[in-house]
Amino acid sequence: MYGLLLESISDLIKTKYGEDKWEEIRQLAKVGPSVFSTHETYGEELIPNIARAAAVVLKENADDIMDGFGVAFVSFVGQYGYDSILKVLGRHMRDFLNGLDNLHEYLRFSYPKLRPPSFFVENESKAGLTLHYRSRRKGFVHYVKGQIRRVGELFYNTKVNIYVVDEVENADHTVHVKFRLLFNNVAYRDNNRLTVDSIVDNIPLSGL
Ligand code: HEM
Repeated sequence: MYGLLLESISDLIKTKYGEDKWEEIRQLAKVGPSVFSTHETYGEELIPNIARAAAVVLKENADDIMDGFGVAFVSFVGQYGYDSILKVLGRHMRDFLNGLDNLHEYLRFSYPKLRPPSFFVENESKAGLTLHYRSRRKGFVHYVKGQIRRVGELFYNTKVNIYVVDEVENADHTVHVKFRLLFNNVAYRDNNRLTVDSIVDNIPLSGL
């Protein structure tokens, strides 16, 4: 796992709870390095271990901790100028989500060993959509929830409620999670209006 994600986590813990708490969590989680390099890779077990240790030290729920890590990541990448990429990923939430695979693919130039997650959208309605998340990693469900809620707030000024509908581990050890996202899906409304408009536009004048 690339250092970028670990940097955002240690930064969050230090800023919100102080250096001492970070040291305590780091030791409990048996994390060797005290600082991380963005483009270096680290053990896959580090983030889940840090979340578990943080839950103990901070007396919080581990799922909420992972959710908080996801929220923090979206703000953190702003420091690297990645927020400008995120801002142009789509005019609407569903375009953004459908664009995440391309985004990670593009990032492969700077992170050649990337093992990215995969996302796709289906079953859109005016009240939301279904999001499929596939990953070679376990334990990131709440992280994703945090990321998406934060993206909604930051880039679409939209409150998103996220529910896990289904979670399956495949024989090849990949994880497939189905989320239902509830929000004001303006894109779907716009499209519907367009359809109605185009029907009206196509009614011959003589028929009116
Ligand atoms: C420009 C902003 C972003 C950058 C630079 C970025 C970069 C990365 C990097 C470097 C990794 C580590 C992968 C590895 O080490 O193999 C990663 C993992 C991940 N990214 Fe992104 N990412 C960005 C935006 C997002 C967004 C907006 C989402 C979701 C809403 C997302 C979802 C994830 C997830 C869930 C993982 C790790 C868990 C897994 O593999 O399933 N990323 N990303």
